Amino acid sequence: MSDQQATEREPLFDEAAEGAAPPEHVPELKAAEGAAPPEHDPELEAEEEDEPALDPEVAARRAAALSHVRKFGDPVLRTRARPVERFDAALSDEVRWMGGLMIDAIGVGLAATQVGVLHRVLVYRVQQESPVVALVNPEIEWKGGEEEIMEEGCLSLPTVLVDVERPLHVRVRARDEHGEEILVEATGLEARVIQHEIDHLDGVLILDRTSRDQRKEAMRALREAQEAA
Ligand code: NI
Repeated sequence: MSDQQATEREPLFDEAAEGAAPPEHVPELKAAEGAAPPEHDPELEAEEEDEPALDPEVAARRAAALSHVRKFGDPVLRTRARPVERFDAALSDEVRWMGGLMIDAIGVGLAATQVGVLHRVLVYRVQQESPVVALVNPEIEWKGGEEEIMEEGCLSLPTVLVDVERPLHVRVRARDEHGEEILVEATGLEARVIQHEIDHLDGVLILDRTSRDQRKEAMRALREAQEAA
């Protein structure tokens, strides 16, 4: 896939760079803003069944963004990404493009592998008003002993929601897109999103981190959706 990066990335960036305005509806962020605690964690879900219909313009932007996101079955999602060695304008463009896609897709995180770029780069934003954070070559330096189970979704696995147990606290060392070292002490949703996206960079999906029963059920749903498409 890496050979395709240069040819793929540039036209996609031009397409996606526009329209990065925050969507009017961000169902994923409701809980983070202090709404009543949901029965399951909506933050990581691609979509909720009982969600009100999106504004048509927002929905169109979301569909356009999702068309760039590789879906289950694409081998790139099972490929380990390589460390970034050059912190140049192309990397900044890549990060900006990914941030725009993530926002348009109404996601809270996106890993480069999900858009077919085998760079160890992820972006996330767990609060609607916050800036998008980019982590380049992230390494989990420390995980707390306390774990929590929450339901997660993934932009690459439409309709799938599975329970995933993860450490509640992590410390992550990374660089930003300019090569500056950063240290993130993350907890709760932020810690969960970072771990989910780092998994993507290692070719790991939430299907690998849930129970055998939930994985079976999810695989069946994915197959049915693919057959129906
Ligand atoms: Ni994901």
